[in-house]
Amino acid sequence: MRKQIAAANWKMNLTLEQGSTLVNDIISASLMLDKDHLVVFGVPFPYLTSVKQQLAGRENIFVAAQNCYSKKSGAYTGEVSAEILHSIGVDYVIIGHSERREYFNECNAMLAEKLNLAFEYGLKAIFCCGEALAIREAGTQNSFVETQIKESLFHLTAEQMTGFVIAYEPIWAIGTGKTASSAQAQEIQLHIRNVIGAQYGDAVAQSVSILYGGSVKAANAKEIFGQPDVDGGLVGGASLVAAEFSAIINSLK
Ligand code: PGA
Repeated sequence: MRKQIAAANWKMNLTLEQGSTLVNDIISASLMLDKDHLVVFGVPFPYLTSVKQQLAGRENIFVAAQNCYSKKSGAYTGEVSAEILHSIGVDYVIIGHSERREYFNECNAMLAEKLNLAFEYGLKAIFCCGEALAIREAGTQNSFVETQIKESLFHLTAEQMTGFVIAYEPIWAIGTGKTASSAQAQEIQLHIRNVIGAQYGDAVAQSVSILYGGSVKAANAKEIFGQPDVDGGLVGGASLVAAEFSAIINSLK
């Protein structure tokens, strides 16, 4: 079975102390993690090392950076490279979140560069895609997301795509309290899997974990994660509350 993943995206929230209390509360809750379940904490850069230490010895729980830069190294003041993340033992990196695309002008081609560097330094990527409200209203979300996937991922090899992680996050559902219905999530996530299957073959497509993100909470996680092509979630707001995120982890199928 492909991996079922509950990924937290703290964004630019929490102090170090608050974050460390949150992680402690979650890992000491009664989590029902089986061997195909993964939990990932996407935390601000300065907390990566300490959260990683808090998670030491836990097989299914990892730390993620929320971004990395599209260049290997050099005079890019304030940026953090894949190599730097690798050197401090970071496991995952979120690439192409819609907030990065919107506020920092990250385009599909730049995200392809970031993915290359993530692979070069052995980081596992969580690649985000998803459409804005106007695109959903025009009914062109499938082709929009298909273009995002093709332009950022299709240069990767079948080996690199095997076990890859994608997060489908409709922008209109992020932080709005408005969730895509489980049927809407299933429909587009099946489309994403089919697009990957057409390029790389069915075995590769079936190995890719496709997460849903956008107002996932304890109350709706089981229903959404229950869809055949939804392999867990990328969770913002609800990942900041221990009881919520623990219940979301326990909703993985
Ligand atoms: P949300 O954010 O759960 O607060 O909607 C999801 C995300 O942006 O990854």
